Amino acid sequence: MQVISEVALLRDQVSQWKKMDKRIAFVPTMGNLHQGHLTLVRKAREQGDIVVVSIFVNPMQFDRADDLANYPRTLDEDLTQLREEGVDLVFTPTPDTLYPQGVEAHTTVEVPKLSIMLEGASRPGHFRGVATVVSKLFHLVQPSIACFGEKDFQQLAVIRKLVADMAMPIEVIGVPTVRESDGLAMSSRNNNLTVDERQRAPVLAKTMRWMSAQMRNGRRDLDDLIEDAHDQLRAAGLKPDEFYIRDASSLAQISEESRQAVILVAAYLGNTRLIDNLTVDLLRAADKADKADISGD
Ligand code: PAJ
Repeated sequence: MQVISEVALLRDQVSQWKKMDKRIAFVPTMGNLHQGHLTLVRKAREQGDIVVVSIFVNPMQFDRADDLANYPRTLDEDLTQLREEGVDLVFTPTPDTLYPQGVEAHTTVEVPKLSIMLEGASRPGHFRGVATVVSKLFHLVQPSIACFGEKDFQQLAVIRKLVADMAMPIEVIGVPTVRESDGLAMSSRNNNLTVDERQRAPVLAKTMRWMSAQMRNGRRDLDDLIEDAHDQLRAAGLKPDEFYIRDASSLAQISEESRQAVILVAAYLGNTRLIDNLTVDLLRAADKADKADISGD
């Protein structure tokens, strides 16, 4: 496995593979890898001839300096795991390599609407930072396939629109969220939880599953449903931050035409902000509307 941090060396290797007509499958990450990331890597392995992973804690997408400074950096462990997965190349640039004149001086890529709604409203500039770094990485790595997690549902939507709008010849693959056995979505942020917080964290996924069951059984008073969900989170000691039920394809408000909804949630557990989401099939909801089986799970 090659580990490369310089742009020129990466370009050389990529152009050799391109000459050989290899299909590069790419997984961008910020490191501190867990089974969620490794599932993306396995998907990439399945789909491409060559697997490239990037590890770069992207300063442009952090809205808080302390969050950036505290982001866990575990490069040696990450490289060991990627070697075991048979990855071909890991790109590990420094901020100076990708932003030689600094973040503020760099050209940015903005995906309208999707970037400033929901998570983008509470974290100004976040999705601009994501779209910019992902565009730059795509230009450098030149993948045919790129894998992203559904865990970051809005991020996946932003990337899909970026690729479509800019006519990038890349197939974007969304990979379902990988969870711990108690339902908690795997995340680097879970390491920040105390033992007690970790025990309470699964309530986030459990509450979404309860909401999903309510909706599949025809419940449509969504504002009240969100209020009930708030109560469940607060009862378990979580502080709800964002809670939305939206159309899963447009992220707009649910309408008569919506086929699938997505529940998007962000909540604080102590100082840790956890995010998660769950899609709900609304067509099935209509079919089942009068069959009452609100079991909660
Ligand atoms: P990072 O948080 O490291 O995540 C890298 C990729 O792993 C993302 O596509 C994310 O959705 C996916 N992922 C994280 N947890 C997952 C889980 N439990 N199940 C499935 N997939 C999971 O997301 C980023 O980095 C950055 O914003 C990045 C795209 C690299 C741009 O800087």
